[in-house]
Parts: sequence; C-alpha cells; structure tokens
Amino acid sequence: MGFLAIIGGSGLNRFAALESPVRQSVETEFGGPSAPLVVGKLQGHKVVFLARHGDGHSIAPHQINYRANIRALQSVGVTHIVSVAAVGAISSHLPPAKIAVPEQLIDYTHGRKSTFYEGSGSEVKHIDFSWPYSRILASMIERAAGLSGLKIVSGGTYGCTQGPRLETAAEILRMERDGCDMVGMTGMPEAALAREAGIDYACCAVMANWAAGKSSSEITMQEIEANLSKGMGGVANLLGSLVGMIG
Ligand code: HPA
Repeated sequence: MGFLAIIGGSGLNRFAALESPVRQSVETEFGGPSAPLVVGKLQGHKVVFLARHGDGHSIAPHQINYRANIRALQSVGVTHIVSVAAVGAISSHLPPAKIAVPEQLIDYTHGRKSTFYEGSGSEVKHIDFSWPYSRILASMIERAAGLSGLKIVSGGTYGCTQGPRLETAAEILRMERDGCDMVGMTGMPEAALAREAGIDYACCAVMANWAAGKSSSEITMQEIEANLSKGMGGVANLLGSLVGMIG
C-alpha cells in the first residue's frame, strides 16, 4: 500500500478536490514545512497535500525549507510524491497550459540546503541521481493522464533556476543549448531530497508561459495565472486517476 503526497506549487496552493481535509502541523529537526500538511481523501484513497510556497503563497523559491518539507512527508509515511510545478516553456512543442512529465533535470541553483546528510557527526551520502525522477511513478502519471483523456508530453529536461526573478533571454538560450525543455525554480533540491529519503518522486510540470525571449511579448503574471488555471483542471483529473494506482 502506497501513500501519495502532492506538493502543489504556483497555481495549486490548495487542492480543492481533497475530501474531508484535516490540517496536520508537523515539526522536523530542520524546522516546520512550508504549511501544515493537509490529509484527506481522493477517490476514496488517503493522500496528503503540501503547499510548497506556504498557505498564502509567501515563501520564495530560494527560501523554501525543502528539507523540512520532505522530512515532514517522510515522517507521516509518504511513499510517493507528485510535484506539481509551474514552469516556463523553452521547447516549441510545449505550448502554454500543456502538461509535461520530465525525465531529466539540470540544477542551476546555488546556496540551497540540499542534503539531509551534513552537519555534526552525520555521515556523507552520495545518492545515485542519474535518473532524478522515479520512472515507475512517471509512467503511472502518463497512464493516469491517458485514463483521464489528457494529452501530456512524456520526457524532457527541467532546468531549475534560482529565482525569484525570471531569466534573461540569453540565460534561456544557454539553457536551451544545455538541453533544457522547461524552466522552473523549485525542482531542486526537492527531487534530490526525496531520493535521499527513499521516496518515489516525479513531476507534473504545467507550462505557465513561454520562457524569456521565446515570445515577442513580455511575461505577465496575468498570463501565467490564466495558463496555470487552464492546466490545473487537467492535473486534478490526472491525480484522481493516479491515486488508485498507488494506494
Ligand atoms: N522561469 C522560471 N520559473 C517559472 C517560469 C519561468 O519562465 N514560469 C513559471 N515558473
């Protein structure tokens, strides 16, 4: 029996489909998570939801306590995490509001606390991160999308920038040359910490906008919000199909 957690990012600050939600405050040795965990039922299955940026969307990507978030989910027995993430689209086959399930990532962040294994007396640990996302969970997400009639894109590389500003056009061109298909700010160290914690982790990336320089117009918050709200309906249906495959 698995136990699914959904970490909701921009555009998914609360998960309305969750039935009988109960808020649960958890403390970890790294401090508290971004918000209380919300435990509830989805299609009759127990799931837990965590708002990555906090209840009021007030925690910037570089200030998120990723270690507390993953440890809190681990402490309640989570076995699988689906990260729902807003991203900018770099590749032309990823139009705004499209959903993709990346298979690779490149980390451009700096200065974030990115391991559980540091500090006094702690043994250093080097996880295998060749394939940063759980391929089993990613293929379940793809199957769930098929069941809910949603056409998503499988694969691609997620580039994680530091934020909170958006990128320059030159930075996006460099990321494109590096092989990035999409750009977000929160994929790391979240994915690596989940691997350290032994939790299957995959990402449902929703295209919020064309990345910098990829369209002739300025990137606006209105555009981002409109595309995210279009994409999130699909994500909710997909998660409803997914949960039965896990637990
Ligand atoms: N860049 C980085 N992160 C993002 C973007 C972007 O263009 N859009 C949504 N999250």
